[in-house]
Amino acid sequence: MSSGGEMKGPVAVTGAAGYVGSWLVMRLLQQGYTVRATVRDPTNFKKTKPLLDLPEASERLTLWKADLEDEGSFDEAFEGCTGVFHVATAMDFESTDPENEVIKPTVNGVLNVMRSCKKTQTVKRIIFTSSAGAVKRAEQKRSQFDETCWSNVEFCRQTKMTGWMYFVSKTLAEKAALEFAKENNIDLISIVPSLVAGPFIMSSMPPSMLTALALILGNEAHYSILKQVNLVHLDDLCNAHIFLLEHPKAEGRYICSSRDITIFELANLLRERYPEYNIPTTFTGIDESIKPVLFSSKKLTDLGFKYKYTAEDMFDGAIRSCREKNLIPLKTV
Ligand SMILES: NC(=O)c1ccc[n+]([C@@H]2O[C@H](COP(=O)([O-])OP(=O)(O)OC[C@H]3O[C@@H](n4cnc5c(N)ncnc54)[C@H](OP(=O)(O)O)[C@@H]3O)[C@@H](O)[C@H]2O)c1
Repeated sequence: MSSGGEMKGPVAVTGAAGYVGSWLVMRLLQQGYTVRATVRDPTNFKKTKPLLDLPEASERLTLWKADLEDEGSFDEAFEGCTGVFHVATAMDFESTDPENEVIKPTVNGVLNVMRSCKKTQTVKRIIFTSSAGAVKRAEQKRSQFDETCWSNVEFCRQTKMTGWMYFVSKTLAEKAALEFAKENNIDLISIVPSLVAGPFIMSSMPPSMLTALALILGNEAHYSILKQVNLVHLDDLCNAHIFLLEHPKAEGRYICSSRDITIFELANLLRERYPEYNIPTTFTGIDESIKPVLFSSKKLTDLGFKYKYTAEDMFDGAIRSCREKNLIPLKTV
């Protein structure tokens, strides 16, 4: 696929009102794409307003109603598209029915999306947004991960660590997507982001901010995820999505992550920059001598992708957006 003017869409983005989806729509519009944004409820103005307010939206953005759980629901939105970004996922760590509310919609949803792409005959490439949760969660401890690693679904189901249902859903969904692509000769790229942070345009609290800002929010259940966490800036991630859609040689899985950090380093970073928050210094059950776990993005950078942002940029942007939208307190000390 070339990045010439003729390839500027239309492209579709599923989960377009979410944290990643909305920023991706903004970047696509800025780069000249015509965008079809799928949302579950186009009449939910609180969710759609940040999209409709984007520059160029009135000329090149349309909203389409589609649900991961409804077979064929993406057919109309995808018809005539050259590329599809499948970003939508069910992300609810507090779900009381994880099998039916998180795992099934995510796994059936990706197949539903891919069947709709296949029907069109116009979609040349699908970019599937996977997750580090599909790579890192296994019994055997490792000091580094790359695209050959997969989470162990049985281990997640047995251990039931915070977010286990999400890790299971992303692992099963990515595997199902790659298999379906192989069987049906579909060009599918999966992008595997680590924890995303950065400024955002959606109006409510992005679910992943509950993890990224757990040290500020005192969200202790999420400290296990931050123990040896990997991070990527939202803008870098969205640019990587577009880079992979356009790159003629892209294939398979790509980890997208730019900073490996421990919970202690993250706490120091936040404490130094934001003394107005009460950031903990010790973490029950987490040894101070732990080292960061490497989450290698070499495959993506070898293809020519360049990251632009630091961890400081990620948290400055995230905290600024949360404050502007009154989603976090201005201080906790
Ligand atoms: N944020 C991170 O740290 C992070 C890290 C790694 C990977 N990812 C991946 O990035 C993608 C986007 O995540 P996000 O952080 O942007 O999450 P998000 O803000 O929760 O957005 C997810 C979107 O999925 C949509 N969705 C949920 N259930 C759906 C259903 N049944 N049918 C149709 N749409 C449905 C929601 O749409 P509505 O607006 O219509 O409700 C929501 O806008 C996901 O695939 C996630 O796994 C995120």
